[in-house]
Amino acid sequence: MLRKPIVTVVGHVDHGKTSLLDTIRHSTVTEGEAGKITQAIGASIVPTETIKRVCGPLLKTMGLRIPGLLFIDTPGHAAFSTLRKRGGALADIAILVIDINEGFMPQTEEAIEILIAAKTPFLIAANKIDLTRGWVKSDKFLLQNLQSQSADVQRMIDEKIYKIVGQMYDKFEVQADRFDRIQDYTKQIGIVPISAHTKEGLPEVLMALVGLVQKYLESGLEMDEKGVAKGTILEVKEQKGLGKVLDVILYDGALKSGDTVVIGGMGSPIITKVRGLFEPAAHAEMMEKKVKYDSVKEVVAATGVRVFAPGVDDIIAGMPIMSSNPKDTSAAEKEVQAQIDEVLIETDDEGIVVKADTIGSLEALCTLLREKDIPIRRATIGQVNKKDMVDAESNYEKDPLLSVILGFNIGGEEPSDKVHIIRSDIIYKVIEEFELWKESMKRKEEEEELGKVTTPCKIEILKGFVFRQSNPAIAGVHINAGKLRTGMKFMKTDGKEVTTVKGIQIEQKNASTAEQGKDVAAEMTDVTIGRQVDEGTVLYSAINEEDFILLKKLKHLLSKAEIDVLKEIANIRRENNPVWGI
Ligand code: GTP
Ligand code: MG
Repeated sequence: MLRKPIVTVVGHVDHGKTSLLDTIRHSTVTEGEAGKITQAIGASIVPTETIKRVCGPLLKTMGLRIPGLLFIDTPGHAAFSTLRKRGGALADIAILVIDINEGFMPQTEEAIEILIAAKTPFLIAANKIDLTRGWVKSDKFLLQNLQSQSADVQRMIDEKIYKIVGQMYDKFEVQADRFDRIQDYTKQIGIVPISAHTKEGLPEVLMALVGLVQKYLESGLEMDEKGVAKGTILEVKEQKGLGKVLDVILYDGALKSGDTVVIGGMGSPIITKVRGLFEPAAHAEMMEKKVKYDSVKEVVAATGVRVFAPGVDDIIAGMPIMSSNPKDTSAAEKEVQAQIDEVLIETDDEGIVVKADTIGSLEALCTLLREKDIPIRRATIGQVNKKDMVDAESNYEKDPLLSVILGFNIGGEEPSDKVHIIRSDIIYKVIEEFELWKESMKRKEEEEELGKVTTPCKIEILKGFVFRQSNPAIAGVHINAGKLRTGMKFMKTDGKEVTTVKGIQIEQKNASTAEQGKDVAAEMTDVTIGRQVDEGTVLYSAINEEDFILLKKLKHLLSKAEIDVLKEIANIRRENNPVWGI
């Protein structure tokens, strides 16, 4: 038997995921389909009748073999990534919503990275076409609709689609095209222009989904409707009168009231018995505020169902659930644990510590970190605890930039002197902040390094401002370029080191540094003005070879003027030694 394919809707904030789901949901509830349960827990079922009615003639050539579609209503941020099953993503297929007017955004890219890593096929719904200036709403099918728009509108839509095509290729080396121009869906990604508001493009989205699934994914949908039930926990909720209940997306087999189930736990798997199964009452969404539930004896995949079972207080979202032979749960326990172990990382290698609230989000976070070649020492579920702190700190001596804990949607221990903690409830923000922090730390380190070397500086002894000729010489100098520091050694344009600036006075006050462009009084040792140097003599900081090589590495911290002076200094040094600093 074929089950319904599971579809997730992903995309950047406000690009229209919920609106698209709402549109799909509302298309489902019509008089003709009254009486059917179109809502499931945490998911919306689009039955075949609806697909047939909405798509009409679009389906003629391919026919409809799947028993409808199951759309997952993801709770909250980036939660799509929390949904996994053994071996990968729970979703068979995804719709990536992109606001056609805004184009790619950070979460668009993150979603694509995760979809590609999880090998989840997807379509792009280029949403909000109705906002194109001059757009005229139409009930025609999309291609005719597009053709009947003005030339300007057609051109604008085409341009925006090709921008997405270009970005898909540049950023991910993936080919994409408008859905009707796709030749091979295994190699190209279809883009359907839609409006979640006007429903334009909705039939084409459904058709493209059905086509893709029936052509390439059908074998993965085969299941035994009497077989072992397998599911993933979408949410853990509190229900009045019952206490903790589990909202489960069932992706295989059948689950019955009275079944023994094994559920993934923080320690070892939990074994319990199903005491009740619930589905939303028909048309529950009509009274959205107080959804009513019907108790049911049995559910068959793919669907969403609320499970009431004792002893589930410590269960968290994302965990696997599986029915089992009540007399011997060992096989199910092993399977459930194996599914969790696919994601957890514990090694003795150097690397950061990663924490997340569910196995799915942990996997997503680790996937994105690995793509950036960031080493991971431990990746586990739950709050930041003492062991995490100890593990992170063990990196400190070797590489403080790894003495870090990254957390998605979790609390726990506070950062210490040696352990930096970054937390967010948005995956890409965790990574973004980590990279910013690393950059700022590197910069700080480099600035410290720069503080230890002689930096490029060019000064000139001013005419008529010699206050003392020697022991030490004191004269007004102009700083042509760079920063003058006390202790800096200076050389002449012939490379001869002649003096050290021992003291600086700016407007009669002692200073340790002076900026470019300033005129200051400089106290210079071991030199006599009128002998080795004169009024008008230009001096360069006497950078040695070692410092020069380091400065080349820290070039990004130098100003344009300093870099120019550094080149002049190198030229002076190379008069005496042609391979100096090379
Ligand atoms: P998050 O759940 O916050 O990530 O956002 P979302 O992707 O679910 O977006 P949502 O559906 O909430 O839409 C965001 C805004 O865009 C809302 O104000 C919608 O009314 C608007 N919107 C969504 N689809 C369309 C569309 O097709 N046309 C127009 N004009 N507006 C749209
Ligand atoms: Mg939303």
